[in-house]
Amino acid sequence: MEDVKNLEEVEVERFSAFDRFVHWLTAIPFVYLFLSGLGMYSPKFAWLLPFLGGREFSAWLHKWAGVVFTIGVLLMFLRWAKDFVLDSDDRIWLANVKYYLKGEEEKLPEAGKYNAGQKLFGWMVFIGGAVFLITGVVMWFPETFSTTFVRLAILLHEITFVVVGAGFIVHLYMGTVGVPGSLSSMITGKVSALWAASHHPKWFREVMRK
Ligand code: HEM
Repeated sequence: MEDVKNLEEVEVERFSAFDRFVHWLTAIPFVYLFLSGLGMYSPKFAWLLPFLGGREFSAWLHKWAGVVFTIGVLLMFLRWAKDFVLDSDDRIWLANVKYYLKGEEEKLPEAGKYNAGQKLFGWMVFIGGAVFLITGVVMWFPETFSTTFVRLAILLHEITFVVVGAGFIVHLYMGTVGVPGSLSSMITGKVSALWAASHHPKWFREVMRK
């Protein structure tokens, strides 16, 4: 009991100031892109646009927020891609993801710094970011490309929006209420040792060894 109490009080560094800067540089423009994209894409969500500066302004800012988002994704890729490589334990983890959803993490292979779900989200962001960039440029300068190409770009942009948007909603849930204690890692950079030992035991042992 005493040990558990101590673990709760000890803090472990999870993300450096640069990691957090890169995360929020990507996340903040994404939220604007997501909401303005939703407002432009579906008349059901057009009520969002006045809150984002109006239809014309949000169409303009959507493009520039896309530029900042792209820089964030690129930095994220350079910083984190090596940590998101999936290994054999991750494949077992994914095949048994039902235990994660039931809150029975102890039945899964121990996670390192990121679990397989987090790694997959990372790849979704990298691949999605590249598709958003390419298709976004085509839509920004439509006169440069054929009509068929522009139509294809719009379709791909929308499909990517739905896929990455769904991933984002899950990520938002997991990073706040889904896994209590996570959010502090992206704000202060630190988590409790108890949190680290429960959710990322392999990583926790590595940190303790250093
Ligand atoms: C705006 C709301 C967001 C919140 C509250 C949030 C929260 C978090 C938190 C708490 C972590 C650390 C998880 C951990 O310590 O294990 C994290 C990691 C991460 N975030 Fe976010 N995030 C948000 C938006 C985004 C967006 C929009 C992207 C990219 C488009 C993104 C990409 C990532 C990636 C790649 C990681 C590392 C892997 C992972 O934990 O999934 N985040 N986020």
